[in-house]
Amino acid sequence: MWSPSFVAALLLLLTPAAHTLKTGDWKTCSQSGFCRRGRALSARAQDAADVWKSPYSVIPSSVAVASNLASFTAAVKSSIYPEINFELDVRVHKDGVVRVRMDEVGGLRKRYDEAASWALVQEPEISRAIQWSVGKQEIKAKYGEKKDVEVTVEYNPLKVTLSRNGKEEVVLNGRGLLHMEHFRTKASGDDKPVEGSEGDAQAVMQTNPAAWFEGDTEDAWWEETFSSWTDSKPKGPESLSIDINFPRHGHVYGIPQHATSLSLPTTTGPSATFTDPYRLYNADVFEYLASSSMSLYGSIPLMHAHSAESTVAVFNAVGSETWIDIGRSNDRSTETHWVSESGILDVFILPGPTPEEVFAQYARLTGTPALPAHWSLAYHQCRWNYVSSDDVRGVQKRFDEEDIPVDVFWLDIEYAEEHKYFIWDKKTFPDPVEMTNDVDALERKMVVIIDPHLKRTSSYPVYQKASELAVLVKPKSGEGEYEGWCWSGSSSWIDGFNPASWEFWKGLFKTKSIDGQWSWTESTDAVHIWNDMNEPSVFNGPEITMPKDNVHYGGWEHRDVHNINGMLFTNMTYQAVAARSDPPKRPFVLTRSFYAGSQRFGAMWTGDNLGTWEHMTVNLKMALANGIGGMTFGGSDVGGFFGNPEPEMLVRWYAIGIFSPFFRAHAHIDTKRREPYLLDEPYKSILRDTIRLRYAMLPMWYTAFREATVTGIPILRPQYVVFPKDEAGFAIDDQFYVGASGLLVKPVTEKGATEASIYLAEDQVYYDYFAHYAHQGSVKGKYVTVPAALHQIPLLVRGGSIIPTRERHRRSSPLMKYDPFTLRVALDKVGSARGELYLDDGETYSHQDGEIVWREFTAETEKKSKVLRVSSKDLALEKPQEAVEGNALAHFDPANAYAKKIAHVRVEKIVLVGLGKQPKAVRVEGGKELDWDYAPGVSSGKEGQAGVLVVKDPAVTVVSDWTLVVEL
Ligand code: GLC
Repeated sequence: MWSPSFVAALLLLLTPAAHTLKTGDWKTCSQSGFCRRGRALSARAQDAADVWKSPYSVIPSSVAVASNLASFTAAVKSSIYPEINFELDVRVHKDGVVRVRMDEVGGLRKRYDEAASWALVQEPEISRAIQWSVGKQEIKAKYGEKKDVEVTVEYNPLKVTLSRNGKEEVVLNGRGLLHMEHFRTKASGDDKPVEGSEGDAQAVMQTNPAAWFEGDTEDAWWEETFSSWTDSKPKGPESLSIDINFPRHGHVYGIPQHATSLSLPTTTGPSATFTDPYRLYNADVFEYLASSSMSLYGSIPLMHAHSAESTVAVFNAVGSETWIDIGRSNDRSTETHWVSESGILDVFILPGPTPEEVFAQYARLTGTPALPAHWSLAYHQCRWNYVSSDDVRGVQKRFDEEDIPVDVFWLDIEYAEEHKYFIWDKKTFPDPVEMTNDVDALERKMVVIIDPHLKRTSSYPVYQKASELAVLVKPKSGEGEYEGWCWSGSSSWIDGFNPASWEFWKGLFKTKSIDGQWSWTESTDAVHIWNDMNEPSVFNGPEITMPKDNVHYGGWEHRDVHNINGMLFTNMTYQAVAARSDPPKRPFVLTRSFYAGSQRFGAMWTGDNLGTWEHMTVNLKMALANGIGGMTFGGSDVGGFFGNPEPEMLVRWYAIGIFSPFFRAHAHIDTKRREPYLLDEPYKSILRDTIRLRYAMLPMWYTAFREATVTGIPILRPQYVVFPKDEAGFAIDDQFYVGASGLLVKPVTEKGATEASIYLAEDQVYYDYFAHYAHQGSVKGKYVTVPAALHQIPLLVRGGSIIPTRERHRRSSPLMKYDPFTLRVALDKVGSARGELYLDDGETYSHQDGEIVWREFTAETEKKSKVLRVSSKDLALEKPQEAVEGNALAHFDPANAYAKKIAHVRVEKIVLVGLGKQPKAVRVEGGKELDWDYAPGVSSGKEGQAGVLVVKDPAVTVVSDWTLVVEL
């Protein structure tokens, strides 16, 4: 009998992408017909810059303002094809976001127009305050509190501009690259020169405007071949090109996922970093390059543009393959050019003007991350594969013997008989429910992989039922089932666009069978799900994915929906896991593929990284970029998926892991085991301490997640988000702040490092988290050097922060739920500080009914009366509307059931850093004098070893209001 690992290895050999990165497995722009056409259009525009004019214009007489005055529609024509009709629809949302839609009307076919409906949480509310003024050459509206924002639609040529205080911030079609290739009938052969196309640009413009604008060949209009695959393109050319400029904005961020810097390097112009545009086409790229504009697993067409004056953004709601060129003009403006293979124009302009406002505007469109189950923020242990239920038990035992906390054990594809997901391989996992219960006994969870490819065999009830219900993706004929290869050999793919898939999929996850339907009775509520290969990955398909001419529900081609496809699978799984338990518990789903809106359905990771310093470095930058795109609950395979990391690298990677919102170690089947307990000393002890630090900081993480779920602001915050006016920080992407906690992390990603250099943007004190050394920043910005030997994590706390921690060591995080808290107070230059703590039961939805505890801690020094006060008050009572996701709490009851449950939980220690003077006395207001220790040092305004006061057992609880008084 073949062992699972042998089968896996064999499959890897069969995989076209196996073993070495072959960039040749994925298209470059020059190998993609519509990208070539898009770039050629841009080149023609540049060559004929003096005469170039967009052929698209608004017909002035057609402008129709809606009765509510907030939106208008207008007919658009292209002078090249006067018989073709387009309609423009422009509206301003209540929060100032401008939506610009354009579609071909009355054409030969319909363009795919549903991308936004999958991405958006709801139809956005239209502003009631806007009034369009219709002119002869343009229509415009001024809005905003100070009426400083103006959106203008010029008619001829069509150009849309968002300005602030009279200065342009976002311009659509300013360079005249808008082109919506209309549907046509196939008249001539491929690549045939178009008549009348000879001569210089101007002559061609006169004699044959179509050739002048579209080029002189029908380049890959009706068919396209790449490697051994032919794309039949039954609909012909339908690509969409649009230029989007950001005048006076010298940095752009976002459009994840690419392995590159946060501030996106250019792809056009003489000093371009990359020769190819950024590609958005969800792809399973084997051993991806550490610096490239190539596509990766997820695609979010959202780009922030930033300058010291403002942050703005565009969200281009398109689901088809998209290429984005980025160039910079002399005045530090950014010029971008987006070319998509199909779909309508549906661009949202987010006016900002601060990074926070852009995040909020994007969150109102596509939603915020769901509040994760608390345990899912703890440590996850994965590998391909834990090979049997006894293996799982053994790993759990070793963690416990070594006192290393862990919350979740993961099972990769080898748990499933012949990779038939849900079906346990009974030879190796004879007792899955008992195994899960053994893990559950320590309040731990399991995460098990379920991929979207279903093995085509009669012995697989899941495939059988899907086939019977006809919910599988169809081949180009539109009949039957598409068949391709993946882990399970010959497979078919569940079609998330088919509404019938959803009910079917939900039914599968029930732990008790209903009406005799097959369901996963051999699992429990402690089992959560990992969705992988959902780009989708198809080993024998073009570019390791599905042919573009495959057919989804509704007759749409795969080409139209490719980038959305993976999100639907995760969405379905998320709903299915949520529907499994009653009362419902928060599901955990990890996805590899994602699209705009995926943040609502769980966590993501950066896929199959390499165990190299380079990948460790770029994965950090990617985490920041993913956060810009809303996917803040993310992380990378700690240790690197491929390869056997040396202990030093592993230690450094864990230090990154504990500062990643999603913290999971994972490894390829061919790697050596590397669970933390397997390391020699001193590495093992360092890893234990590192993981324990994550557990100690879980209250801080959970509090940061609360904020992200309400506001959409990412948890890992790059420098430009925290200091949007400090130019020196705009390109910094190797350090970040964690939520609003005040923690500033600078991970070490270099071999042999002993110190690290951290940039401080402000005139504020930053303390070494461990050693309490006070570094003084400067208004001009300043680098400070901190120790970074292997056992040291460069971690600073911004003066003015209060960080709640739980410092008792437990085996898993739920075992900490009644543990006392420590408050770490980092005084700022004037001796004050602030922090928050958010708590709820961590697993149900009772928080949405107000069963929460949300506290604010403040510290203040009164110089005159020589007193420092640290107080705790109820923040939920003060701001019930802002307390939980969806702004659902109208009232808040401080004596809610959860608050009562933890009423006895104490604050066991308060640590005050930056106190330059030994106190005379310390007491809780109205109470007796307390015990304390004071280590002398400098006060918060000075550089040097800071004075630290530790107040032991102040005898206060976490749910009550209190004030600690330190007499100085
Ligand atoms: C893919 C995943 C990887 C997983 C493997 C087997 O390569 O990215 O994490 O271990 O498939 O399921």
